[in-house]
Amino acid sequence: MRLMPTKKGSTDPKSDAGQIADPTHGARHIAIIMDGNGRWAKKKHLPRALGHKKGVEAVRDIVRVAGEMGIEAMTLYAFSSENWSRPEDEITDLMGLLRQYIQSDIDEFDENGIRLKVIGNYKALDDDIVDLIDNALERTANNDRMTLAIALNYGAQDEMVRAVKSIAESVNQGSMDPQEIGADHISDALDTAGMPPLDLLIRTSGELRLSNFLLWQSAYSELYFTDTLWPDFDKRELQRALKSFGDRDRRFGGR
Ligand code: FPP
Repeated sequence: MRLMPTKKGSTDPKSDAGQIADPTHGARHIAIIMDGNGRWAKKKHLPRALGHKKGVEAVRDIVRVAGEMGIEAMTLYAFSSENWSRPEDEITDLMGLLRQYIQSDIDEFDENGIRLKVIGNYKALDDDIVDLIDNALERTANNDRMTLAIALNYGAQDEMVRAVKSIAESVNQGSMDPQEIGADHISDALDTAGMPPLDLLIRTSGELRLSNFLLWQSAYSELYFTDTLWPDFDKRELQRALKSFGDRDRRFGGR
């Protein structure tokens, strides 16, 4: 049993002989496909926008809980490169919520040692959102308790295309020999470069697919699917997912 770290690298000597179960069950990096806001709202005869609003509250709670548990990194799928095909008013609602979330929670990120990261081509979002994000990235760059990566205008295939282009550029300039290219070079060219390996990928709302999310990074991740709709996903649900992760036998292709 791992000990629960009180601070990075230390354990609480006053605790029950130091034997506090680790709430992360050894998971360093968790990613979540937060699905089901629309169905949550429909079930309650509420407008879709309220489902997304409630979804942001769930984000806020889960980020807090994950930080307290000692999770090192969390990646959340907030807006995919395919979500642009949604009705314009829904896109406006989602972008409005994103604006509000960053503005209202940036102080708390800082207080709690959360480093914000964005994966995906976020520069294509509205200029004011790009500015908000850039400021938040800069302001939280030195925080080291947990990395919160928000996927915005993200698609794994697009991420890989951009990575291949940057590697091809290095080859073109003569700074990289194509025969030397290995998996690490590709990992380092992806938006998630520098983050711990992805341990657990959770999808809510009963859908059983990856929807173009972290396709490279999930090569050896454990997958966890729950019928719970995202706005209802809470601490207990996260604990359940982590317990399931802890019970898995991870072999990474070995036996
Ligand atoms: C899926 O619900 C949810 C999304 C489109 C992405 C998740 C967005 C949020 C939680 C809100 C914004 C997040 C941040 C970080 C500000 P859906 O509409 O596809 O649900 P449905 O499948 O039930 O219709």
